[in-house]
Amino acid sequence: MRSKARAHSNIALIKYWGKRDERLNLPAVGSISLTLSALWTETEIEFSPQFQTDQLILNDKTASPEETGRTSRFLDLLRELAGTNLKAIIKSENNFPTAAGLASSASGFAALTLAAARALHLSLSRKELSVLARQGSGSAARSIPGGFVEMYAGQSADGSDAFAEPIAPPAHWDIRLLIGITSGAAKKIGSTAGMNLSKTTSPYYQAWIDAQHADLTAMRQAILDRDFERLGELSEYSCLKMHALALSSNPGILYWNGVTVEAMHAVRDLRRGGTPAYFTIDAGPQIKVLCLPEDENEVREMLESIPGIREVVSNKPGPGARILEADE
Ligand code: DP6
Repeated sequence: MRSKARAHSNIALIKYWGKRDERLNLPAVGSISLTLSALWTETEIEFSPQFQTDQLILNDKTASPEETGRTSRFLDLLRELAGTNLKAIIKSENNFPTAAGLASSASGFAALTLAAARALHLSLSRKELSVLARQGSGSAARSIPGGFVEMYAGQSADGSDAFAEPIAPPAHWDIRLLIGITSGAAKKIGSTAGMNLSKTTSPYYQAWIDAQHADLTAMRQAILDRDFERLGELSEYSCLKMHALALSSNPGILYWNGVTVEAMHAVRDLRRGGTPAYFTIDAGPQIKVLCLPEDENEVREMLESIPGIREVVSNKPGPGARILEADE
């Protein structure tokens, strides 16, 4: 029972931060993301009665007990659905450096969900796959569909309505997202811990939740209208609000380094000069810049000229998760 799947990473344009239920990993807010063409994870999984324990190999290295444990607990969900307790060997590879703080949990859990469901012969809808992936990592639910994607916070206690689906396919709109890598270090505080801290300590937490609906509605429309300025303005606004929430936690969470801040100013300078470019930043120091195809070279040159930017990775809207190989 073997299968291999590929899932692309995604970046939220309207951010997710906060959980309404930690055990089921239910988000407190919906989010909207762009699937990335250039960053993906390929995961191969084999279940066999010969294996005594689950074994996880990440980028050709045996994973830590924590990583293996998280993967094992996640696989238990699929084993329960399939009515089996077979153990697995999982080999997972990112085509980008995991330590660079890029969203490897999104593509990782989406690829794992798809590969494991296929290997266990579970026939699941895209919605069911997204519900499962969410339990590995919230942003992973958004890496099941491709293109422009919306994740619903949902309302039900069992999480069956907390899943992602496409707003528009990749071909709907050719926009670009350039990632400027400012650091290869692992982030100091992970998203799960950061979200919990914000929920329990930030005086702005409820205000963040209350404002999300309007941002989601506006972003959905900007995507459908192919209104780039609106998409960019909303993305930058949601990013800064999310970081303001993180900063207002106690102790405050600061994900940026000096280069991140330099790059934020440089993006705004470019915009003042007439080039529509907008930044977004996740729970780490990398800068992501949204622009139109005709401005990609100018944005790349701008990023490459900032001391401390080590590499720039260009993306278009990318495809959804798919099976690459299966044993029958
Ligand atoms: C800042 O999906 O990594 O990237 O559900 O706890 O695994 P968990 O969190 P995760 O959080 C992503 C946070 C973010 C914003 C976003 O992608 O929406």
